[in-house]
Amino acid sequence: MNSDLKSHWENIYSSKKEDGVSWFQEHPKTSIDLIEKYSTDKSISIIDIGSGRSKILKNLIENEYDDLTYLDISQEACSKSKISLGLKQDLVQWYVENVLDFNTEKNFSIWHDRAVFHFLISKEDVEKYKQVALKNIVQGGYLILGTFSENGPEKCSGLNVSRYSPESLKKIFNPEFKMIESFTINHKTPFDTNQNFLFSIFKK
Ligand SMILES: C[S@@+](CC[C@H](N)C(=O)[O-])C[C@H]1O[C@@H](n2cnc3c(N)ncnc32)[C@H](O)[C@@H]1O
Repeated sequence: MNSDLKSHWENIYSSKKEDGVSWFQEHPKTSIDLIEKYSTDKSISIIDIGSGRSKILKNLIENEYDDLTYLDISQEACSKSKISLGLKQDLVQWYVENVLDFNTEKNFSIWHDRAVFHFLISKEDVEKYKQVALKNIVQGGYLILGTFSENGPEKCSGLNVSRYSPESLKKIFNPEFKMIESFTINHKTPFDTNQNFLFSIFKK
């Protein structure tokens, strides 16, 4: 199952152009604004879960954040992201693995995930994700989660997704995480369609 999932994403990133996928963003404004809002200073540790080929880490480097970590299941996405960062790739720690198997001693002040958590369908995987996040986010740190809302698409990249309301996310992440903010926002895809996202911020 895990290897099927990995080959699915390897295939996407080998065959599609950067802006040939629905989740492409020229500038990940909502994510950057939220990270700026919840970071106390530029030296805090930030991880982008399922970063793909997102420009988020490039933007954070430009904004002078200096403790940045990339994680994605796809080696292809990771290699392409490294190339686009050029020499600046040394400013990032890189992990190619399934977030559910992520095992590091490092803790993060901000855990950011846009459009990854919603691919977890089973209760077991959702619980596993929560436990990994819990273990790796510092006490007082933030979990920034961008999922499809209840009005979002039912599939992404050909895979089923779970769609969320603030209440359904609270049920999953309470009581260890407290929701402090939640809002919906439309993402305009490169194909001129809208995807309704729910961004939720939790504090551990
Ligand atoms: C819809 S894309 C979003 C990419 C990026 N977050 C963005 O906003 O542009 C989902 C990403 O999550 C990665 N992914 C999916 N399931 C994963 C998992 N279980 N562990 C780690 N990465 C995963 C995929 O390879 C892909 O890059």
